[in-house]
Amino acid sequence: MSGASEFKYGRAKLFHADCLAWLKGCAEKSIHAVVTDPPYGIHEYTDEQQQKMRAGKGGVWRLPPAYDGHTRSPLPRFTTLTPKDLKHLREFFNEWAIALRPALAPGAHVFMAANPLVSTYISMALSDAGLERRGEVVRAVMTMRGGDRPKNAHEEFSDVSVMPRSQWEPWLLYREPIECKTVADNLRKYKTGGLRRISDEQPFGDLIWSHPTRKTEKSIANHPSLKPQSFMRAIVRASLPLGEGVVLDPFAGSGSTLAAAEYVGYESIGLERDAEYFALAQDAIPKLAKLEVKARSAPPS
Ligand SMILES: C[S@@+](CC[C@H](N)C(=O)[O-])C[C@H]1O[C@@H](n2cnc3c(N)ncnc32)[C@H](O)[C@@H]1O
Repeated sequence: MSGASEFKYGRAKLFHADCLAWLKGCAEKSIHAVVTDPPYGIHEYTDEQQQKMRAGKGGVWRLPPAYDGHTRSPLPRFTTLTPKDLKHLREFFNEWAIALRPALAPGAHVFMAANPLVSTYISMALSDAGLERRGEVVRAVMTMRGGDRPKNAHEEFSDVSVMPRSQWEPWLLYREPIECKTVADNLRKYKTGGLRRISDEQPFGDLIWSHPTRKTEKSIANHPSLKPQSFMRAIVRASLPLGEGVVLDPFAGSGSTLAAAEYVGYESIGLERDAEYFALAQDAIPKLAKLEVKARSAPPS
């Protein structure tokens, strides 16, 4: 179905669309949760930067040094963001949240991936738009960011790291304010307002032990920001408190949110603006949704 502007698989629908344009036509209160990993520096997913990344030359994407003989995937540099870029980022996410809110059912939760360097700007933008901050989910994961000694002075300052080695990823948690007097009434009316428990004994928690995306998943979906199914399934499942409703991913990439939603049995909608990633997602969603994966339940030893 490549080249089409809409793709369907099971309960998942993916549109080749810009999310801001698509949201203008979205029915009011029709979305019950958002789980998304946006382009948090904004310019790394512009056409210009994507062309540079695909050509392997210049731009904000860099290849981290090879490790154990393995070449690593490109990572965008967020430390290069200027005050003007940060202002633009805050304006973009504010405009985005204002466009999103009418589509959300009251009490709908928004899970949004961020990065410790930019999360405060995104967070303020969402709060300013009227979404209610509900905390952050920590995805504990060893990344290739930070931890390096000062450039060109490794020996001189061998005891120094310029930044901490990043071992977690913040997922901002917001909610469209509830409309009813109580969460229970909101749950009855809209099926939203809370988070689905893991079990009778275990509520959903805000620390999730994770791991970098595995090779098996990367070989299915070669997207530079692919998130692992084990983590995505945990947060997507929690996002609909009664397991009913529609989960939206406005920055769908290769469709990992939609695949996770399909796995847990939820309806989902994804939006992806880039033609190559839209085509990639059509191939990847069915494969990722069927993949058996293991979650990490404890810190790495
Ligand atoms: C960080 S990636 C998400 C990757 C995803 N987590 C995955 O596992 O594949 C963000 C995606 O949003 C897309 N994007 C950027 N701006 C967009 C917009 N305005 N509307 C729709 N998609 C957009 C980019 O092309 C990119 O694929």
